[in-house]
Amino acid sequence: MTSPQNTLLVATTLLLFLSFSKLSLTTFVSIDCGSYESTIDTNNITWIGDGAYIQFGESHQIPSAPSIFNTLRAFPYGNESCYSIEVENGEKVLSRATFFYGNYDNKSSPPIFDLHFDGNFWASVNTSMASSEYNLDYEAIYATKGNTTNICVTQKMPNHVPFITSLEVRSLNSTMYSQLEPNHSLILLGRYAFGADKSIRYPDDAYDRIWKTVSGDGLISRVKSDAFNIDISTVIDNPPQAAMNNAVTTPDKDHQILYHLFIPHKEVPLYINTYFSEVTKDAAGARSIEIHVDSNPVYGPIAPPFGSVEEVYIKKSLSQDTSLAFVARPDSTLPPILNAIEVYQIQPLANATDT
Ligand SMILES: *[C@@H]1O[C@H](CO)[C@@H](O)[C@H](O)[C@H]1NC(C)=O
Ligand SMILES: *[C@@H]1O[C@H](CO)[C@@H](O)[C@H](O)[C@H]1NC(C)=O
Ligand SMILES: *[C@@H]1O[C@H](CO)[C@@H](O)[C@H](O)[C@H]1NC(C)=O
Ligand SMILES: *[C@@H]1O[C@H](CO)[C@@H](O)[C@H](O)[C@H]1NC(C)=O
Ligand SMILES: *[C@@H]1O[C@H](CO)[C@@H](O)[C@H](O)[C@H]1NC(C)=O
Ligand SMILES: *[C@@H]1O[C@H](CO)[C@@H](O)[C@H](O)[C@H]1NC(C)=O
Ligand SMILES: *[C@@H]1O[C@H](CO)[C@@H](O)[C@H](O)[C@H]1NC(C)=O
Ligand SMILES: *[C@@H]1O[C@H](CO)[C@@H](O)[C@H](O)[C@H]1NC(C)=O
Repeated sequence: MTSPQNTLLVATTLLLFLSFSKLSLTTFVSIDCGSYESTIDTNNITWIGDGAYIQFGESHQIPSAPSIFNTLRAFPYGNESCYSIEVENGEKVLSRATFFYGNYDNKSSPPIFDLHFDGNFWASVNTSMASSEYNLDYEAIYATKGNTTNICVTQKMPNHVPFITSLEVRSLNSTMYSQLEPNHSLILLGRYAFGADKSIRYPDDAYDRIWKTVSGDGLISRVKSDAFNIDISTVIDNPPQAAMNNAVTTPDKDHQILYHLFIPHKEVPLYINTYFSEVTKDAAGARSIEIHVDSNPVYGPIAPPFGSVEEVYIKKSLSQDTSLAFVARPDSTLPPILNAIEVYQIQPLANATDT
């Protein structure tokens, strides 16, 4: 006779096994476009050449650029400029495309062209914005609609030849970014680990999100957490612990932390994640924060926990003229802190399942 307890135990074990086998199938593809070789970078990410993904376009080199940025694939003949990458049907992915012109064609004329994923407009790429730096990258989060995801660059102006430098696709946990409706995508506008020494990505972030650092004006100071270990296991969007170890704060509770949104003048729907973790053990309970949009409270009170993280999301249509402020509440005896933020534009998905 099988007791109910035994049956329950078997079901639990099977579920654990299933989630394990799912984990091992996850997508983590890093393509060094235009390259014929594989390389492993300092983050232990294995980059592969793009030969297996595309038969069209021309491979070019920029010998002076660092690895990954020193090759690209250009598409002077227009069509067939799509990469098709195997994914699990319906999984939530993060795709990242990077562009470095580097005057590969000796024309000193950085092109402008469009970027698409799965038939959706993603971004207008203006490569002259990356003339001296290697940081022109675009990120999108979306649910896949088949067993491949298609990423394309398309020409939109005469003599502006589209190209691509690198392409990455990573699986996310389906529980992440759960306020995103399946028929929408998230286009990254900014992701920052405040107070961090350097930008954070894989292997610190298992999903290889890139958390950049930023320095504020003279009144903003960075603070380091005294916590030996910050528990992130219950935080819904799985931020890396490394991004929670530091924060920014203001000199006193009369000063607020103001985050500038670099977005268009017209209103756009945004998905904003904010992360708070108390930096001093004694401060727990003494700090109380409110989030304001245009001087109106939209969320609070937030009492950052020591040794763990409180995540707060905001879904709201905002414009460039809007301010996002982190304010000490009247009953707080300490100034506000902020550890990390993610800002995305919410974009409806096209109904097409392919290009
Ligand atoms: C997805 O996230 C949930 C909640 O954080 C966690 O229980 C689960 O193990 C995660 N799954 C994978 C495949 O990482
Ligand atoms: C690099 O990744 C491989 C597997 O992809 C792993 O076996 C190895 O331990 C990693 N090395 C470091 C330094 O993380
Ligand atoms: C690409 O362009 C060539 C030449 O114009 C044409 O023959 C071919 O049909 C095009 N392919 C697609 C998929 O549009
Ligand atoms: C650009 O100029 C360099 C140096 O003269 C040359 O080696 C390279 O082949 C040229 N590239 C193209 C695409 O014309
Ligand atoms: C592209 O970027 C350059 C440099 O920032 C700028 O001068 C130019 O106006 C931009 N072009 C478009 C169409 O946005
Ligand atoms: C992907 O899906 C298509 C259509 O459903 C199917 O024909 C094809 O065999 C699938 N490919 C793989 C690798 O599963
Ligand atoms: C997305 O789905 C929601 C409900 O699931 C629906 O209300 C909304 O109209 C859909 N939006 C688009 C752009 O299809
Ligand atoms: C998708 O299809 C639905 C119903 O046909 C339509 O209402 C919606 O506007 C479409 N969404 C997009 C982004 O084209």
